[in-house]
Amino acid sequence: MEIFGTPILHTVAELRHWSRQKRNENGHTIGLVPTMGALHAGHASLIRAARASCGAVAVTIFVNPTQFGPNEDFARYPRTFDADCAMAQREGADVIFAPSVEELYPSGATTFVEVEGLSNRLDGASRPSHFRGVATIVTKLLIAAEPDRAFFGQKDAAQVAVIRRMTADLRLAAEIVVCPTVRDPDGLAMSSRNIYLSPTERAQALTLSRALRHVEVLVAQNERRAEALVAAARNAFAAEPAVRVDYIALVDWATLEPVEIAVPGSLCAMAAYVGSTRLIDNVILS
Ligand code: PAF
Repeated sequence: MEIFGTPILHTVAELRHWSRQKRNENGHTIGLVPTMGALHAGHASLIRAARASCGAVAVTIFVNPTQFGPNEDFARYPRTFDADCAMAQREGADVIFAPSVEELYPSGATTFVEVEGLSNRLDGASRPSHFRGVATIVTKLLIAAEPDRAFFGQKDAAQVAVIRRMTADLRLAAEIVVCPTVRDPDGLAMSSRNIYLSPTERAQALTLSRALRHVEVLVAQNERRAEALVAAARNAFAAEPAVRVDYIALVDWATLEPVEIAVPGSLCAMAAYVGSTRLIDNVILS
């Protein structure tokens, strides 16, 4: 089947066949861009990065049930398949992989990938099975597509840490490429969940990027103490009581363990509820 001229694959066997054919017959490197659909400019940048460095590019569209908690937004997660296919094609995808839940989780499946330690930190602390679901689905996609490179956004920095650890531990061949967070002109990090925000909430959501800017300004003034940096970020939220902080943390990006003193490469990450919408954002300190 094709939509807008881009083939849509539905089974793991089809994706694996496509990838092997592109590599063995055409000599291409394979790029994989895993997504849950509802594509926006952030995803477009991942597809463009894959297009720029790989001979053949697969974009996956799969709303992965195992990374949602029981009271989370799996059922209402935005599903915009036709628009996603149009964007994927426009940005240079050669193929779209859109499997069913049964294809990736065959009936009776009991195998999961758990990255111990990391999976309980940051988002994992408030979303207990989230990273187990992410690690499991990304492993399945990497095994199916056998890519040379897989592309992820820095906005999900904790997810990146989990995926890097998981690919290293399992000795998977794919290089994990991390692309910068794409923001609206006013600073709001692009997210498929921004669609849930009312106009008032959207304005309130700017507190996250504003807080991160405060942190960056302090770092530029040579403040390195995590306590002071996190306090500065918390202050930004004090001005917006409608936004409820889930966490603000300064951590080592590889281990997600808290650090006391920021060094170049430390991750300042946060999550907050704006109304019922949970948003995340972060900055890598320079
Ligand atoms: O970042 C996402 O959209 C998802 O967590 C991912 C990596 C596609 C796995 O479902």
